[in-house]
Amino acid sequence: MHPQPPSFKPSVITGQTALITGASSGIGAEFAEQLASRGANLILVARSIEKLEALAASLREKYQVEVHTEKLDLSSPDASKRLSQFVTEQGLQVDFLVNNAGFSSIGPAVEMDPDDTDELVNLNVKAVMENTVRFLPAMVSRGGGVIINIAGTGAFQPAPYMAGRTASAAFVLSFTQALSAENADTGVRIFALCPGPTETPMTAGQSSPLGKMRTPAQVVTTALKALDSRKASVVDGRLNAFVARLGSRLPESMILTLAARIMRGTQIQSHSG
Ligand SMILES: NC(=O)c1ccc[n+]([C@@H]2O[C@H](COP(=O)([O-])OP(=O)(O)OC[C@H]3O[C@@H](n4cnc5c(N)ncnc54)[C@H](OP(=O)(O)O)[C@@H]3O)[C@@H](O)[C@H]2O)c1
Repeated sequence: MHPQPPSFKPSVITGQTALITGASSGIGAEFAEQLASRGANLILVARSIEKLEALAASLREKYQVEVHTEKLDLSSPDASKRLSQFVTEQGLQVDFLVNNAGFSSIGPAVEMDPDDTDELVNLNVKAVMENTVRFLPAMVSRGGGVIINIAGTGAFQPAPYMAGRTASAAFVLSFTQALSAENADTGVRIFALCPGPTETPMTAGQSSPLGKMRTPAQVVTTALKALDSRKASVVDGRLNAFVARLGSRLPESMILTLAARIMRGTQIQSHSG
């Protein structure tokens, strides 16, 4: 058993410090907004420093919280180590970690640029795993903390034409579920957040086979509602949750053929605008 202050409640965020990767847009920027509105101090990480600084200035003014920014390419080999050095040098401690930065590659694998495979694996897989294991031990020693790793509903079934992205989401889901169980008695709340199609710069110009896309505000609200539960993974939106469950119950050949047909249609729609 690890020490756990009797008062530790993951949803009590005021005065905690949250590190959010990929905070310059979309779901990450929304995490920054909602956590700051609940009194968290922030460490915002992404490559677009101007966007991070603009967001930081607006959140400081709106919510009177401390906001630090760090320009970092998390797909570079030593990025996670540099991030943890930055946190130490600034005299900060990470109470709440959101591994959100992600890279999406859409299209048939036969047309994929082989150089993109490094970026996808380093960002979507390695950085998530390395950040988690770098910041977890201090949380366990303190007997409290939160780690949310963003996977996606693609984690529940492979999507042809998004093969690398859904495979990386499956890694994040499996890794995070296992760590959630390992840490059930440590006071550290760990879970995977699985959004379905959501309106962000990543999905600009695309349409969803499920109809209207979810918004980043809905996705983050779903995540923050799950803080005090013990679930190892949380799917955003009822329809997304239904489809994610269905995927694991249908025969493999049926789900792959269906997914290929749907994704091919989505490709054609998004290419024609
Ligand atoms: N939108 C969806 O439908 C959907 C569905 C399922 C899962 N997700 C997941 O949700 C997460 C957030 O995506 P989003 O939809 O909010 O997309 P987004 O608006 O494009 O945000 C992606 C974020 O990741 C950052 N990023 C990208 N490459 C980076 C790198 N090499 N180093 C550091 N930061 C990097 C981007 O900032 P910079 O470009 O400034 O670095 C940006 O802040 C991703 O992990 C994505 O896979 C999204």
